[in-house]
Amino acid sequence: MTQTAPRSVILGTGSAVPSKVVTNDDLAKIVDTSDEWITTRTGIRERRVLEDSKATSDLALLASERALEDAGLDVGDLEAIIAGTCTPDYQFPSLGCVLEAKLGAKEVFSFDVNAACSGFLNALSVADLFIRSGRIGNALVVGSDVLSRYLDWQDRSTCILFGDAAGAAVLGAGDNGDRGILSTRLQTDGSYAETLYIRAGGTKKPATQETVENREHSIYMNGKEVFKVAVRSMEDISRRVLEEAGLGVEDVSLVVPHQANRRIIAALAARLDIPMDRVVVNLDRYGNTSAASVPVALDEVRRAGRIAEGDIVLLNAFGAGFAWGASVIRF
Ligand code: COA
Repeated sequence: MTQTAPRSVILGTGSAVPSKVVTNDDLAKIVDTSDEWITTRTGIRERRVLEDSKATSDLALLASERALEDAGLDVGDLEAIIAGTCTPDYQFPSLGCVLEAKLGAKEVFSFDVNAACSGFLNALSVADLFIRSGRIGNALVVGSDVLSRYLDWQDRSTCILFGDAAGAAVLGAGDNGDRGILSTRLQTDGSYAETLYIRAGGTKKPATQETVENREHSIYMNGKEVFKVAVRSMEDISRRVLEEAGLGVEDVSLVVPHQANRRIIAALAARLDIPMDRVVVNLDRYGNTSAASVPVALDEVRRAGRIAEGDIVLLNAFGAGFAWGASVIRF
């Protein structure tokens, strides 16, 4: 994309996870599974589960406050909130609107994008384009999901995979230097809609006593199919964003991939020929936190000092839709 406007830069990041830890051994008490099976097949050791009295916006609020503080931006100066989520507090209004009120933001517009696990990358891309168009000078980009509310705790093939979290980044207009978001690409293939979805609760199959009894309000997934397409698609889109940015895999200091399964991440790294010590993995502690996974991992590595000025960081994600994306950023 030919662009004369300044690039968007990440001014700050923040993240939040619930305090309640659920280990693999805890899950082995409720479904026929084991720590050994979950660890070897997924890399996940534990995940966080949000308490019943809280909602997605509570986690998003904490992550957002931390990101604003890190960015040194007063909430009164915030111009937009774009939230990636598939588990908002309500069917409507949006998580963005609920969060805006909780933050006490005033002169903003807020909305959600639903791209499931790719939600943060989609939200980042939208915010980036608003900023590069000159329409706004900054935006809070959030990825927040509470998938624990949509798990069938009797289905060992799905309930072991997911956890709850929120991550956020404050984006602002750069100074015409070479820092910032260099390239982002998004892609979808809706023919896979029913490979990973929640069968009831939407307009196609509204909630009834029967849908509840049939346990149709929780995640259905063909895990093997997701696995195959995820690796292929994330490799392809990662190569494309790098090419668009005029970079090669050898230029990448760090990859921050969606945290779904360690084997997916390892396969992706192998195909991209990037050693695992340049790939961020935190799913052992959080599982798959959907739209939160990339911003939480990004926040953790930034705060741990693993990103230096000038580093090239590659973000990528994949999820229900199927929807996937990648972004390459010079810090
Ligand atoms: N504990 C113990 N056994 C389990 C189990 C569990 N939690 N879940 C499934 N199994 C069993 C299966 O029933 C099956 O038994 P069978 O051979 O007797 O039929 C066996 O383990 C193998 O199952 P399979 O589904 O082939 O395992 P897998 O190696 O494909 O791993 C996933 C399953 C879900 C971990 C893997 O497919 C995956 O991670 N897929 C991607 C999922 C994903 O990332 N989704 C979100 C994308 S955003």
